[in-house]
Amino acid sequence: MSKNIEFKRHRRLRSSASMRSLVRENHLRTNDFIYPIFVIEGENIKNEIASMPGIYQVSLDLLAGEVKEVYDLGIKAIMFFGVIHEKDEQGTGAFVDNGIVQEATRIVKKDFPEILVLADTCLCEYTSHGHCGVIHNHDVDNDESLKLLAKTAVSQAKAGADIIAPSNMMDGFVAVIRQALDESGFSHIPIMSYAVKYASSFYGPFRDAADSTPQFGDRKTYQMDPANRLEALREAESDIEEGADFLIVKPALSYLDIVREVRDMTNVPVVAYNVSGEYSMVKAAALQGWINEKELVLEKLTAMKRAGADLIITYFAKDAAKWLNE
Ligand code: PBG
Repeated sequence: MSKNIEFKRHRRLRSSASMRSLVRENHLRTNDFIYPIFVIEGENIKNEIASMPGIYQVSLDLLAGEVKEVYDLGIKAIMFFGVIHEKDEQGTGAFVDNGIVQEATRIVKKDFPEILVLADTCLCEYTSHGHCGVIHNHDVDNDESLKLLAKTAVSQAKAGADIIAPSNMMDGFVAVIRQALDESGFSHIPIMSYAVKYASSFYGPFRDAADSTPQFGDRKTYQMDPANRLEALREAESDIEEGADFLIVKPALSYLDIVREVRDMTNVPVVAYNVSGEYSMVKAAALQGWINEKELVLEKLTAMKRAGADLIITYFAKDAAKWLNE
């Protein structure tokens, strides 16, 4: 090598596993994970979701078994989604005291008090039309929907939910839910806002699991356009002003640029939601033997941390916890 050619020797710091772990900048921990669970009406049900291998709809009588597994792996936070059969225009099932998520929350808080229960606050799993709010003139009525979302959040807090996670994308939901929680004696309960939620095709398998596909139209008048970046910053900014304690960016993988920008503009914890379609694509490839699932999943979850996520909501939480414990 000629003496006057100068270059840097970056490979010095990659020379062995010990050297690489010495200089590693980002780390995955089991404490980073929030595991979503689908609870379904009925008894003795454990239905695998066809488009999400390894993920189940579980009835309440089998829930403790499922949660025990999560607990034994060291995962500290779970998030519930409800699947019910009798739906109506208002999404009443979301806010009744004996709603399925409320009952699931009671069961878990009794048997596993240390596990944090997050309640997804939305109406789409409970409305007959499958939209996230009430419909007037063929569109979702923002302010009417807010009233029902506030009721839903309060009923979830009453049942013992530790964190309220509103995902409906109505304007003002953080402000209205904060006020309702405070007035009902829940000023200590934090809000994890789905602040930045894109209208994404990556939610397809979730809608199979939660039976929440809109019966007409789409969610593009309330969820965000995937082409937009500044709009994400506006959404994040207003949710912080309204009192959000955490901000979610969703989906995660195709939106890591947004995770980074939101991380840089705020000092509240930022949560990446590694959504259903992102799970299913990896599972499908893994089942074909086309990729190394363990390495790929740990790589992509680490990439979310590197992008600035403090926490990750992921259907891979149990698998990743097992791999990290190995
Ligand atoms: C409810 C909600 C959705 C998801 C989380 N909460 C679906 C949607 O907006 O259609 C999607 C999660 C996933 O795909 O894993 N509004």
